Amino acid sequence: MNPTLILAPLRGLTESTYRTVFSRFFPGFDSAVAPFINTYQGNTIKPSLLKDLLPENNPLLPVIPQILAKNPANFLKISQILADLGYTTVNWNLGCPYPMVANKERGSGLLPHPDKIAYFLDTIQGSPLSLSIKTRIGRRHPDEIMKLMSIFNQFPLTELIIHPRTGLQMYKGNVDLETFQACLEISKHPVVYNGDINSVSDYRHLSEKFPTVAGWMIGRGALANPFLPGQIKGISCDGNPIQILAAFHDTLLQHYSEYLSGPGHLLGRMKGIWFYLSGSFPDGRKLLKKIQKTSRIDHYKDLVKSIWDGPHNLV
Ligand SMILES: Cc1cc2nc3c(=O)[nH]c(=O)nc-3n(C[C@H](O)[C@H](O)[C@H](O)COP(=O)(O)O)c2cc1C
Repeated sequence: MNPTLILAPLRGLTESTYRTVFSRFFPGFDSAVAPFINTYQGNTIKPSLLKDLLPENNPLLPVIPQILAKNPANFLKISQILADLGYTTVNWNLGCPYPMVANKERGSGLLPHPDKIAYFLDTIQGSPLSLSIKTRIGRRHPDEIMKLMSIFNQFPLTELIIHPRTGLQMYKGNVDLETFQACLEISKHPVVYNGDINSVSDYRHLSEKFPTVAGWMIGRGALANPFLPGQIKGISCDGNPIQILAAFHDTLLQHYSEYLSGPGHLLGRMKGIWFYLSGSFPDGRKLLKKIQKTSRIDHYKDLVKSIWDGPHNLV
């Protein structure tokens, strides 16, 4: 079996450097959705966000850009910029749970407003790009999605990616598999499942339960265990896993140090990576605490080297 596996967007983590270095070292992902971009000065894209999507910065893993917007005119303007870069599909973010975003009726904040979503979808029909949607099942209540499914079914979509949590749940609490099942049954579009695939057995359980799912999006599980997409597909990596992780880490560090301004930024980014990557180690919490305490890049490098050279096993 060869499931379609998609790297989830995690803003501040899965930008182009991470996506590309990840694909150099670890097999398994077929594509990625990029972290969201929003409009900048009304009708354009912030240069740093645009850079992330330049085709030359994404040589290995096919990527679908994602837009966070509630204004269809702005969405269309950004879509044209993306089309000019050669993209053919864009993803609309209906999932972002952060109050700063959701309180402004963007991301998951739009989910209680089916009329606004229908208007948006109707208005962007002239878009130069095909549309995929990434959604949660509601902002406050899991039944919000049911009204939306009939709207989604009326418009052409390449796929509907569902993370079956409400916005209020943020990233915690159980995924709601019953509601996901109900969406899967009535969707006219291919449905991608997303949420808490942290091991091969999680994947097996979900794929047996939902055999008609078109693809599987994985975020935190793959950041914690970058071998996971390959393990799901039965593709192994040649070599010692710790050495592969070390080479992956060192390559990321090298790339980030070329453009992140100042050691503070670099250290902050690497701590963000370890927030998840520490999950690869049985004593990961202890390691993470030590890493989080470092305040100098040379101390950080020494500490991480001792992890690769030390007697650590992987989970
Ligand atoms: C730090 C962080 C940043 C995220 N950024 C985005 C984003 O830019 N766009 C988006 O659609 N989802 C974003 N998400 C949600 C993930 O794509 C994904 O839906 C969520 O983590 C659940 O999947 P997982 O359990 O496989 O990680 C983010 C999640 C986290 C933890």
